[in-house]
Amino acid sequence: MTRPRVFLTRRWPAAVEEALAQHFEVVRNLPDRPLTTAELAAAVAEFDAVCPTVTDAVTAEVIGDGSGRARILGNFGVGYNHIDIEAARAAGIAVTNTPHVLTDCTADLALTLMLMLARRAGEGERVVRAGTWSGWNPTQLLGSRLSGKVLGLIGFGRIAQAVARRAHFGFGMRILFHTPRLPLPELSNALGAGACGSVEELLECADFVSLHCPGGAATRHLIDARRLACMRPHAFLINTARGSIVDTDALVAALRDGGIAGAGLDVYEEEPNVPVALKTMDNVVLLPHLGSATVETRNAMGRRVIANLEQFFAGGEPPDRVI
Ligand code: 8YV
Repeated sequence: MTRPRVFLTRRWPAAVEEALAQHFEVVRNLPDRPLTTAELAAAVAEFDAVCPTVTDAVTAEVIGDGSGRARILGNFGVGYNHIDIEAARAAGIAVTNTPHVLTDCTADLALTLMLMLARRAGEGERVVRAGTWSGWNPTQLLGSRLSGKVLGLIGFGRIAQAVARRAHFGFGMRILFHTPRLPLPELSNALGAGACGSVEELLECADFVSLHCPGGAATRHLIDARRLACMRPHAFLINTARGSIVDTDALVAALRDGGIAGAGLDVYEEEPNVPVALKTMDNVVLLPHLGSATVETRNAMGRRVIANLEQFFAGGEPPDRVI
């Protein structure tokens, strides 16, 4: 029996590329650069499975009408807002993702951003590297502590809950959250967390606000100028979810005018472009979409895609089927 042909739009860690090749006939994008619409469409036409990542705009044009060879998009990542799900459904193409395995590492990165902002770690490191550190003094780079502060989580899914556990049990923070989803998870009782009825209510009470909702049209610019104005002037905004959730121009204005104290960002509206205005602000920590970037997690994500493809091509139900 011929093995299904699988196309990787970006290079995976070697261990999982090798594991994938044991089951499938694999073609990789060897230069490992983001592919064009035409290149992605060609992959959908020629391969039984295409494995995209967040850098691929898998539009209706890419997906086509289902007459191509592809029967499944095995996304390498949990977020799938870069895939036109309705177009895939209409074309009869299955879509899977990689939940669970990146929860802890993404939560760790949200805490990294919170600590870096609160303790002015980026600023401090720049002073040392620039050779302008003149030695310890009692008022140098004073930040704020996490303990006892209020962390507001927008979205309360797996990653937000992992952040809440770390922040509450590790740093003694009080947790508020806002989610449209009911019933509320059991964890909210164990944390003594408060459910806010609206985004505004949460923003008005939080010292740190961390975003954990999916990307896509429904959450585009959820955090806009009006909502930024609800935040407290000493509060910090953390985004490890998707850049599209925050109106970048409004964020720059709020940071510039003292509307909020700082921002920690791992994701951007137009990756990899980061506005110069953000790069020049000292009260902003900027990371290059590192949420799931550990060896353990990227290997686990690859194994999850392989499990989904194996089940699918064996005629079974892939464990992480989105549609
Ligand atoms: C991934 C992410 O690295 O899984 C996600 O949704 O945002 C990241 O952690 C990226 O999406 C891989 O495609």
